Amino acid sequence: MTRIFLMIASLFALAARADDAAIRKRAAALVAEMTPEEKAAQLTQYFFIPIGPLKEMAESEIRAGRVGALLFVADPKETNRLQKLAVENSRLKIPLLFGFDVIHGLRTIFPVPIGMAASWDPALVEKGQNIAAAEARAVGIHWAFAPMIDIARDPRWGRIVEGAGEDPYLGSAMAAAQVRGFQGPAIGSPDRIISGPKHFAGYGASLGGRDYDEVNLSDSELWNIYLPPFAAAVKAGAGNVMSAYMGLNGVPAAGNRWLLADILRGALKFNGFVVSDANGVVNLATHRFARDARDSAARALAAGIDMEMAFTGAAFTNLPDALAKREITPAVLDAAVVRVLEAKIRMGLFENPFVDEARATTVLGDPAHREAARVAAERSAVLLRNEGGVLPLSPASLKSLAVIGHLADAPRDMLGPWVFDFRLDEAVTILAGIRAKAGPGVRVEYARGVLLPPRKFASPFAMIPGNSPPPPPNFEPAAEFDKAVAVARAADAVVMVVGELQDMIGEAASRSSLELPGRQQELLDAVVATGKPVVLLVMNGRPLDLRAAAKVPAILDIWYPGTQGGAAVANLLFGDAVPGGKLPFSWPRHVGQVPVIYSRLASHDPAKAGERYFNEESTPFYPFGYGLSYSTFAFDKLTVDRPSIAAGGTLTVSVEVRNTGKRKADEVAQLYIHQRYGSAARPIRELKGFQRVTLEPGEARTLKFTLGPDELRYWSAAKKDWVVEASTYDVWIGGDSTAQLNATFEVTGK
Ligand code: NOJ
Repeated sequence: MTRIFLMIASLFALAARADDAAIRKRAAALVAEMTPEEKAAQLTQYFFIPIGPLKEMAESEIRAGRVGALLFVADPKETNRLQKLAVENSRLKIPLLFGFDVIHGLRTIFPVPIGMAASWDPALVEKGQNIAAAEARAVGIHWAFAPMIDIARDPRWGRIVEGAGEDPYLGSAMAAAQVRGFQGPAIGSPDRIISGPKHFAGYGASLGGRDYDEVNLSDSELWNIYLPPFAAAVKAGAGNVMSAYMGLNGVPAAGNRWLLADILRGALKFNGFVVSDANGVVNLATHRFARDARDSAARALAAGIDMEMAFTGAAFTNLPDALAKREITPAVLDAAVVRVLEAKIRMGLFENPFVDEARATTVLGDPAHREAARVAAERSAVLLRNEGGVLPLSPASLKSLAVIGHLADAPRDMLGPWVFDFRLDEAVTILAGIRAKAGPGVRVEYARGVLLPPRKFASPFAMIPGNSPPPPPNFEPAAEFDKAVAVARAADAVVMVVGELQDMIGEAASRSSLELPGRQQELLDAVVATGKPVVLLVMNGRPLDLRAAAKVPAILDIWYPGTQGGAAVANLLFGDAVPGGKLPFSWPRHVGQVPVIYSRLASHDPAKAGERYFNEESTPFYPFGYGLSYSTFAFDKLTVDRPSIAAGGTLTVSVEVRNTGKRKADEVAQLYIHQRYGSAARPIRELKGFQRVTLEPGEARTLKFTLGPDELRYWSAAKKDWVVEASTYDVWIGGDSTAQLNATFEVTGK
């Protein structure tokens, strides 16, 4: 049986390789007919923002045959119109490739990626991007600048919201799931688009958490922490990779040959096309790296950038000149064009460059997409605290409920950053969701209480229509604050929503503090002082300082939950859904602790972690992997199927997990390992497996995990290579990164 399967699989692989060769040949034949200017055009991508002078500029460049790709068009009429311009105006009739930031949905908005990662459910994540791809493809988009798979360990960095958090293992699983979701089994699959993981590489480690700032990483950190999600995305077949903005170890990523050629194409075996980040090539001169635009273009191309993404005035228009001056070779130029054309061929654009505008409307309005977004919001929520079983609320024993907070009734903010094609009338706010669910028996009173303050420096995204809703008229701060406290006092229970506005997180949204913005903390204190049971909902994309929420009995992290956020949250609050998400990062107590990570290296007297600051606990507020449920779980019978293996071998770890509570609920079994000694210092724990399971009350299930060379290897700074070392290994399995149930095994020399 397996043999037949293997034979069929290798036949498919052979066919795919033949296909690859044919596609490459077709692309190369086209390139052979092209002038240097036409080649440069294929390597140029412009923004098409339907306002202002950029629009005219891009249109006249398309007419002149100087554009190979566009970004930011999501209207099927427009993609068709522009595509027509391109295929009718370029000599070789080469269609445009349309890219877009399809980050967590196009029209149907899913929870932000950090929330999706908190589901610890790769199948759910894959399905989400699958839906996003279908919506995008229907409007004429061929390529998503996603997933963002930068490891982020400093929550001051606003882009932590776009990724999967601090851990390379979880990050790799989420990266691969998203690539599969966008692309399907192969590039060009129906209703799928090209996936472009970003930003290569190390962008998440910017100094001080300041966006775009320089990054300095050791080889060990790169290989063990920052590169694994990229390796996973490439292995999953990603057709594109976007390079990062910043300099890595002193060399700008877009001009970094070692990074793009040696690592990405060499070690990771990437064979798609590489795009720069927006203006990343022109910026090589800003970095004081390139002399001028021509030098930027020549050095970016030589380093491994195939396509330049630019607002206007692309540096790559200088490529013909650079070629004439022998600053680039014809072979390097042609190879880049071949890669871009291959993508267009695979997407079937030469045969069918247009989309069916009527069908687009049906796809975007598909109610099944909204249903999937609701399930995703339910599965991503993380229950951080639930003292005295305050949650779930019971409509039967409640007569009145106070809903408080700016973010409880903020349809734009609940969608989070990185959405552009949303429909506000489809967004179910927290307040609307609660009202619909509570039913006529529960009186729901809302008070905004505080208005979150605007950013000190405006967001670059504020220019996008609908992105910055105006503040409500006649907001009288003192009266609104008092009203909120009065509404709380008059109710049986309070649901208060705190967090950050959608523009306080994301690109160009780093913060020097993790405190709740505005007067939210003050309002929370006043509401808690009423003595009413308070359920705190946190709407966020980064951990916030919650030390002052000490007297709040229940905290549920709902992230920016997306289109169906209110419906999902209401189901969670009233017990029709049970929280099962887990934190994808260690939640710091205070910004001064940053970075705080669970997989730190052991060092002097590690047992006395509390002594690392004299004024503050060193442990996080909540550990990595943490999250409660309305049920309870117990882990038992941890066994390793053999006491020792030779390096390179594989063993199986099993554990029994039992639902010891009264509700059907989910638990995420997490496996951590620790190598006791080796050629380099090893982290005190590292995640190496996880499974999210649903169990009936009283039900027990035995779960199996495999540990082999992929899980046991690491990049040793001493050996300057990947190693699996003879050592004693600890293994723990449990519901978070502080799991206590453990066993050991040995790895012996080969
Ligand atoms: C800049 C961002 O860094 C990148 O992630 C995004 O895809 C591009 N702009 C295009 O919007």
